[in-house]
Amino acid sequence: MAEEKTVSAGRHVASLNSPGKVEPVSLCSIEGATENRMLTGIKEFDRILGGGIVPGSVILVGGDPGIGKSTLLLQAFAGLSQKTGKMLYVSGEESPRQIKMRADRLSVSADNIVLLPETSIEGILDAAIKISPDAMVVDSIQTVFTQELSSAPGSVGQVRECAAKLMMFAKRSNIPVFIVGHVTKEGTIAGPRVLEHIVDTVLYFEGDRGHSYRIMRTIKNRFGSTNEIGIFEMSDSGLREVDNPSELFLSGRPRNVSGSTVVASLEGTRPLMVEIQALVSRTNFGIPRRTSIGVDFNRVNLLVAILEKRAGMHLGGMDIFINIVGGLKIVEPAVDLGIIATIASSARDVPIGPKSFVFGEVGLSGEIRAVAQANARLKEASKIGFERAVIPVGNAEKIDNNYGLKINGVKDIEEFLLSILG
Ligand code: TYD
Ligand code: MG
Repeated sequence: MAEEKTVSAGRHVASLNSPGKVEPVSLCSIEGATENRMLTGIKEFDRILGGGIVPGSVILVGGDPGIGKSTLLLQAFAGLSQKTGKMLYVSGEESPRQIKMRADRLSVSADNIVLLPETSIEGILDAAIKISPDAMVVDSIQTVFTQELSSAPGSVGQVRECAAKLMMFAKRSNIPVFIVGHVTKEGTIAGPRVLEHIVDTVLYFEGDRGHSYRIMRTIKNRFGSTNEIGIFEMSDSGLREVDNPSELFLSGRPRNVSGSTVVASLEGTRPLMVEIQALVSRTNFGIPRRTSIGVDFNRVNLLVAILEKRAGMHLGGMDIFINIVGGLKIVEPAVDLGIIATIASSARDVPIGPKSFVFGEVGLSGEIRAVAQANARLKEASKIGFERAVIPVGNAEKIDNNYGLKINGVKDIEEFLLSILG
């Protein structure tokens, strides 16, 4: 199991000040410094950070090896260095030459970036104090070690202790520190998860090897909202921001084929049009198979039960496969109507019009419930050329602008199926 070795003599590292030297201060006497955020110039990245980097904050960037963490941070630092000043890039994984090669490939200006190929945390902090950069990155936390512990780099104790030291350094110096953490295969024991409660902000970089796009998700943010996502595309010359993700996720969508529905979903503050596909076919033998990719499996089973009970559909002898196109994951309940529509469309073999989309939550008695931010969803759909929306009546009644869309408000699942499938 995970080793738990603490350093009794060095225990003070976890506290921000030396023991006995802290004085209580009144809250109103502290100067607010929230607006001095540093911008990387990569809009998607600044936005998921809550509008730029807060000085003195510690930001964990996690993700699978090879997903693009180092690439993104090098691009962000290049942007920062042009606006702000000196950047320190500590790498325990790559040599300065390799980083230079990457910088050339990304064609970013590296004038103000100082590289440090160091893995001892004491060495890193000494250098950081001397160089006094405007921001620094430690890539990755799994390669760094403290001499106070005898365990190997990457072990739970090392990862935690080194992160605590970086945290203390950031708070004292007011220099923001990015920590890169690989998500390890074996259940993330010594990975970024053990650091989530220590750091200020946690960003996870996800993506599918089969696709070129990458999604950065905010899991925790002491200085901004969570559930924000930023969407990037990995190209030959680094990560590019995707300005219109809805178009990306809808490209290649089949026309006039049953079992495909578009949902206006909301990720954080950003509306996103995504396609849900279903394949409903007769079970050949034994128990029907149910598979869902990108949406909660239990939610799908519940919606199937609602379709059987409240809409009289016979799905008992059917295999049902659900997939969100593009490898996205959607957790919000507004996706319910999309799942219902796509299953019904496939089961009855009736295609849904290519210019129609849906959103809405479904209750156990088959009622359709209103969801948050209907306006943002409608606006996004209208922007990329949709014409017709079938949405909860509770939302339809309150809309002040229809954005040129034909809007059908529906109150229960029967009314909904009639409206969307005809
Ligand atoms: P990297 O940033 O090294 O990943 P991480 O730090 O998360 O381990 O990204 C490596 C991958 O990205 C590698 O498979 C090559 C690819 N890549 C590109 O496709 N284009 C580029 O311009 C760069 C720099 C990398
Ligand atoms: Mg890397």
